Amino acid sequence: MGEVLNPVKGKVAVVTGGGSGIGEGLARRFAAEGATAVALVDVNLEAAQRVAKDIGRGMAIRADVGKQAEVEAALTEVAETVGEVDIYCSNAGIVATGGLETSAHDWEQNWQVNTMAHVYAAQVLLPKMKERGSGFFAITASAAGLLTEMSSLSYSVVKHGAVAVGEWLSLTYGGGAYANGGVQISVLCPQGVRTAMFTEDAAVAAGVDGVLMPSDVADIVMESMQDGRFLILPHPQVHKYARYRADDHDRWLAGMRRLRQQLSSSN
Ligand SMILES: NC(=O)c1ccc[n+]([C@@H]2O[C@H](COP(=O)([O-])OP(=O)(O)OC[C@H]3O[C@@H](n4cnc5c(N)ncnc54)[C@H](O)[C@@H]3O)[C@@H](O)[C@H]2O)c1
Repeated sequence: MGEVLNPVKGKVAVVTGGGSGIGEGLARRFAAEGATAVALVDVNLEAAQRVAKDIGRGMAIRADVGKQAEVEAALTEVAETVGEVDIYCSNAGIVATGGLETSAHDWEQNWQVNTMAHVYAAQVLLPKMKERGSGFFAITASAAGLLTEMSSLSYSVVKHGAVAVGEWLSLTYGGGAYANGGVQISVLCPQGVRTAMFTEDAAVAAGVDGVLMPSDVADIVMESMQDGRFLILPHPQVHKYARYRADDHDRWLAGMRRLRQQLSSSN
């Protein structure tokens, strides 16, 4: 078998939301794989600094990814300090719960952070990646972006938006596996990952099966760079649920209603 290339070694990686959870797991893995620099962009500077210090070759930048000017400034700082970005994980996100009572303000914040942040970064990075003919641009969406999160209307909508952003970017800029020198756009759709956002109690309340650790997610992201896959599904059952939904929407909705009733009577 031919030698598997390490697509991260000697590269510049940026991870948003790198101060915690899935982003921290990705940043640690990229550093361990020999990235020359890993920039952690996070609204929580202290958290990003802690991880940067720990992994050695990290740099911490404070930015709110829901603000276009802050994303642009962070990317300029990375380019000027450590060079052009090879790997970008647009991962920062906020959780939201609630239904029709969600305020316009909360909708807007959710939209900016969980959907538009990916657009702001892509505007800066993808034309350059296309010109160089190489780059990895991954969006952390969620299983909620393929299915629907029962506990949150707005989170489901904006994560569907994140998946759509990724699809559009892939068909416009993407082609080939990053490890083979392509521009790869991927969308990561985990179901439950043990992080600050997703605690044991939240998993029980949401009826989520198969909670993973951030390091498991980092493993599958590394694998995806080799095979160039667009949809990164750390939980295989999400693929099964998405197939049910695509095959028969009404049957899938009926099943989801039953699950919702079971959960509300047991909680
Ligand atoms: N944990 C899960 O079960 C799960 C499942 C599906 C999808 N996700 C998605 O994974 C991503 C990471 O979540 P996590 O579980 O690691 O959460 P987390 O809360 O552990 O980490 C999120 C990080 O993002 C940062 N952040 C939040 N808002 C930001 C902003 N506006 N600008 C910059 N940084 C910001 C936080 O400070 C934090 O460091 C999110 O997009 C989330 O929606 C998580």
